Amino acid sequence: MGALKLHERKELQVAELTVADTRITLPIFYGTEGEKALDISKLRSETGFVTLDPAYMNTASCTSEITYLDGENGILRYRGYPIEQVAEKACFLEVSYLLLHGELPTAVQFEAFRSELRDHATISPFCQNMIRSFPTHAHPMGALAAITAALSAENAAYLAQDLPQSQRQEVTAQLMQQLKSVAAYFYRHMNGLTFVESNPRLDYCEDFLTMLFGACPTAEAVRALNVLLILHADHEQNCSTSTVRLVGSSKANPYATISAGISALWGPLHGGANQAVIEMLEAIRKEGGGVKKFIEKAKSKKDAFVLMGFGHRVYKNFDPRAVIIKKACDDVLEKLHVHDPLLDIAKALEAEALQDSYFIERKLYPNVDFYSGIIYKALGIPVTMFTVLFALGRLPGWLAQWQEMLTASGMKIGRPRQIYVGSGKRDWK
Ligand code: CMC
Repeated sequence: MGALKLHERKELQVAELTVADTRITLPIFYGTEGEKALDISKLRSETGFVTLDPAYMNTASCTSEITYLDGENGILRYRGYPIEQVAEKACFLEVSYLLLHGELPTAVQFEAFRSELRDHATISPFCQNMIRSFPTHAHPMGALAAITAALSAENAAYLAQDLPQSQRQEVTAQLMQQLKSVAAYFYRHMNGLTFVESNPRLDYCEDFLTMLFGACPTAEAVRALNVLLILHADHEQNCSTSTVRLVGSSKANPYATISAGISALWGPLHGGANQAVIEMLEAIRKEGGGVKKFIEKAKSKKDAFVLMGFGHRVYKNFDPRAVIIKKACDDVLEKLHVHDPLLDIAKALEAEALQDSYFIERKLYPNVDFYSGIIYKALGIPVTMFTVLFALGRLPGWLAQWQEMLTASGMKIGRPRQIYVGSGKRDWK
């Protein structure tokens, strides 16, 4: 039926595909690090065929200059900088600037960026009332998604179909600054506490922790949160980022677009895994019987239980973020003098899984969510807020990807095809 012949010599960057007697030439597209893609944009018009790729296991939906990820070798880089160096040397706002602008800021540029954020420090009465209108037991991710979309109600200037670059930058600063406050205010609301206003002259994480707890945080807590948010800041075309690009490609406004990303992140297979990991570890602690029992449950195809915080679509060796987080977890708990039995259970689970052929053969390793919740817990952050923290961390990545998508040459609305397998035509009786 079909034959694919590759000519990978640099001077011949094409593949020849023969489908049902039609021969077409597919350009080969090379990424910076040698990743290879077949450009199939003319496939349907020239052969009548489309590709079928459920869950996008083999599909690159875009080209991007923001984040490089090599799952086989456990490599993650933001704008070329290795994640290990970024996590060690930067603060979250510097990383946000890097993702959004492509380069690290000079001192003057960084101050200007912080000043852009400061312009949006006030949370409007409308937004405060909306926070107060939620039941205190509501999940904060639902509230964050709803309130983010609702910010469109009082920002008509940013709802235009084609925002100029200056306005995209303004709304980016507004979302970065205000979602931090919305998250902290919602925590205070859940706990029946009065709101603590943002002091954007503080470091982003110091300000957030102060708004959350109403007291000055320790340097260890600020550093730990910086590292966690940095590790979450971007991760190329994951589920929520792809959602942001898809929704944004309809020229939906930035509030609706980011709200959609927050909703996608909430799922337990994605960002919601950080909450699910702690709930799983708690359940293991309560039920007892040793970690082996739960490893067997995770392996059984008759049991719905899976090891939350394990496995990744792209990383098939190790998740470099998990390596950094595991070390940070040990350091933070030691510095804060916290002994958490859940950390012992997590380490025992990891050790058991990593020597089990089921996990070895399937290349399942701890991911970013396996240890992050233990750090959040040590900082005094409640479990239902964990995914909100992930969302605050991912926000600069979403915004950078949204801007890159809107400004890409030949930008079009995202619209996958399908293969219809339902009933053939039939008449209404
Ligand atoms: N526990 C037990 N078995 C697993 C797990 C797990 N955590 N993850 C994958 N497998 C098995 C899966 O059952 C399948 O087995 P088989 O080949 O026998 O059918 C095999 O490993 C391949 O898994 P998959 O489901 O086809 O892999 P995927 O790329 O579609 O899914 C994943 C990736 C992350 C959704 C999945 O590994 C998972 O559900 N993990 C637990 C949830 C989690 O930790 N999510 C956070 C991901 S990282 C942060 C983020 O993206 O936000």
